[in-house]
Amino acid sequence: MIGPGEYIDPLLLRPFSLADITPPDDKHPNGSLIFFIRVAGKGTNILKRLTVGTSLSVIGPLGLGFPPVADDEKLLVVAGGIGIASVLGLTKKYQGVPLFYGDRTKGRMLNIEWLEMPEDDIHITTDDGSCGKKCGVLEFLESHISQLRESYTGKIKIYACGPHGMYRAMAGMNLNAEVYVSLETPMACGVGTCLGCAVDTVNGLKMVCKDGPVFNLKDIIWDG
Ligand code: FES
Repeated sequence: MIGPGEYIDPLLLRPFSLADITPPDDKHPNGSLIFFIRVAGKGTNILKRLTVGTSLSVIGPLGLGFPPVADDEKLLVVAGGIGIASVLGLTKKYQGVPLFYGDRTKGRMLNIEWLEMPEDDIHITTDDGSCGKKCGVLEFLESHISQLRESYTGKIKIYACGPHGMYRAMAGMNLNAEVYVSLETPMACGVGTCLGCAVDTVNGLKMVCKDGPVFNLKDIIWDG
């Protein structure tokens, strides 16, 4: 949870995925925490305009991340839009896993150099064809899985971060895989007390900030 320390409006901190951690170097003797911020409202607009050296209010890390991957499981990582921030660490931890990364258009996407992955492992899609394949990221994922299934019958895990519409679509697909998603909801306290981030699951109401943000997709009950 991050907010500009000196502001009292907006009062609340905003939740962000910790995209990366870098070790100390000459420029940053204490190391760095890296966040990607897409301006979406007043709070993120204030963060964007902060100058170097400004102190921030930060609470974290909070919540539970993606579960470990066993040696005999194949992992596929999916990022929709700014969801790339949540899965960037996975692509570094599990080197060699394919990343499926889609957005509406190239201008909204992360510079590919940030990914620090072999280009063969990166599958990019855009809705307008300005970068990578012109299709939805799930369409690409689905065709990759059906090709993979021609020679592989073992367990596939998919770790995804993107908009809720992407998750709903995934819930309706037959991906033949265990899917974990990182949810984003409005958050106020970040520590499980305000109940503002509650999500309905087959195991009852869960707090995205404390019990998540990562959930097994099959456990989430979608409205409507
Ligand atoms: Fe308060 Fe999750 S943000 S309970």
